[in-house]
Amino acid sequence: MFPLIKDILAMNPDSGELRVRGWVRTKREMKNLVFVEVNDGSCLANLQCTFDGIPVPAGLSTGASVEITGRLVASPAQGQTVELAASALRVVGGAPAEDVPADGAAGNGGTGNAVRAYPLQKKRHSLEFLREMPHLRGRTNTIGAVMRVRSALAFAVHSFFRERGFLYLHTPIITGNDAEGAGAMFRVTAQGPAETAKAAKDGAETAAEFFGRESFLTVSGQLEAETYATALSRVYSFGPTFRAEHSNTARHLAEFWMIEPEAAFFTLSDNMALAEAFLKYLFSAVLEECGNDLCFFDTRVEKGIIDNLKSVIDSRFTHMTYTRAVAELEKANQSFEYKPYWGCDMQSEHEKYLTEKVAGGPVIVTDYPREIKAFYMKQNGDGKTVRAMDVLVPRLGEIIGGSEREDDPGVLQNRMAELGMNAESYDWYLDLRRYGSVPHSGFGLGFERLVQYVTGMANIRDVIPYPRAAGQLY
Ligand code: 4AD
Ligand code: MG
Repeated sequence: MFPLIKDILAMNPDSGELRVRGWVRTKREMKNLVFVEVNDGSCLANLQCTFDGIPVPAGLSTGASVEITGRLVASPAQGQTVELAASALRVVGGAPAEDVPADGAAGNGGTGNAVRAYPLQKKRHSLEFLREMPHLRGRTNTIGAVMRVRSALAFAVHSFFRERGFLYLHTPIITGNDAEGAGAMFRVTAQGPAETAKAAKDGAETAAEFFGRESFLTVSGQLEAETYATALSRVYSFGPTFRAEHSNTARHLAEFWMIEPEAAFFTLSDNMALAEAFLKYLFSAVLEECGNDLCFFDTRVEKGIIDNLKSVIDSRFTHMTYTRAVAELEKANQSFEYKPYWGCDMQSEHEKYLTEKVAGGPVIVTDYPREIKAFYMKQNGDGKTVRAMDVLVPRLGEIIGGSEREDDPGVLQNRMAELGMNAESYDWYLDLRRYGSVPHSGFGLGFERLVQYVTGMANIRDVIPYPRAAGQLY
């Protein structure tokens, strides 16, 4: 395979003739000398190619794809040790610097159609502008760096669990149950509108469905992960999840990726220790693997992010019950938009206060009121709280949500009845409690929130290749 720019930049000068392929970021023309910066997305840095007395073809402009042959030489320029002294260049695909009208476009792929000028010619574009073109924004420094960090984090997720005996489990994407009981699900159907109308007229809605019953996109792989944790001891899923919430915030997506470990014989405190070790492992991995990209985020996006990650790695997460957390909020010397009280669902302003003002770092809040948490969480003896845990981090708030699971079939069935859930469709889930039931626990880490935290990116839509949110599907 031919080398990528990240490999070329690590080579010694005079390594013989090389060919580089990539996209032109900038071109600077001097008298007899032309400098072309080429990027191929393998790393943040461009490879500078110099053309000394060689004619440069007309189609060489920002955004064009090129193949350049030359020799690597020591670079006199600052910030790079090598550059390519080019001997030949081929423009593989042009990218017009100005709008090309329909009749003049024949040379541009020979289509004869009009072509708009390459939209990413400026040095910097706003993230809002880039969101309008997810198909091109990967060619910018910021989004390129985000995607490299994302990839490194995904690999680190697998390494972490592999090293600890967790098996990678593929939980279903199409499901018949609402794991979180929040009712924010996308329905899946193979019917067209006419068939749906006919089935409704005949009173045969469910029979006419593809699966013979209503089906949805999953909101969580947890319930299925639980079934395999009580067979394989330790499993984790890592896949897309879907929520039809209309929360138009900088930390919610309608399609996001979630990592959900589930472990048999794990208590809530084992679960908390796992979550803390997991986050620290991921931060260490990304510091080690994506040093240059993180330096970029540190200078351009969120000052001090590297020191911040390092300090989290060296810290011990603060533990706090929900009851204490609310007491802290009630005595806060600060007014909140949502007034805190025992029983309230914590808002991100509360989560930020607890992490930034009270703890000065990540906080694990446990033992939430049962009324605001999902049906499957293990009940404490007090009749009021459950063995839930949320991991909160500065800047973002909740990054992980999890719990010990209710392992007593009677208690679970009562809770489901209280919530008006259809016990029949969860019979398989109750079986886990009927046959060889064990204490078990797990959690879910929102992958995009993790990427946000590590990069300092303010909006979750900028850390996933194609963001899907209410009213937005590019
Ligand atoms: O707290 P949540 O809803 O927990 C669950 O789904 C459990 N079944 C997990 C488990 O115990 N196995 O979601 C877990 C995490 C949140 O802490 C958050 O990081 C992320 O998923 N998350 C979202 N990320 C982006 N957009 C959304 N709409 C999200 N909703 C949750
Ligand atoms: Mg949650």
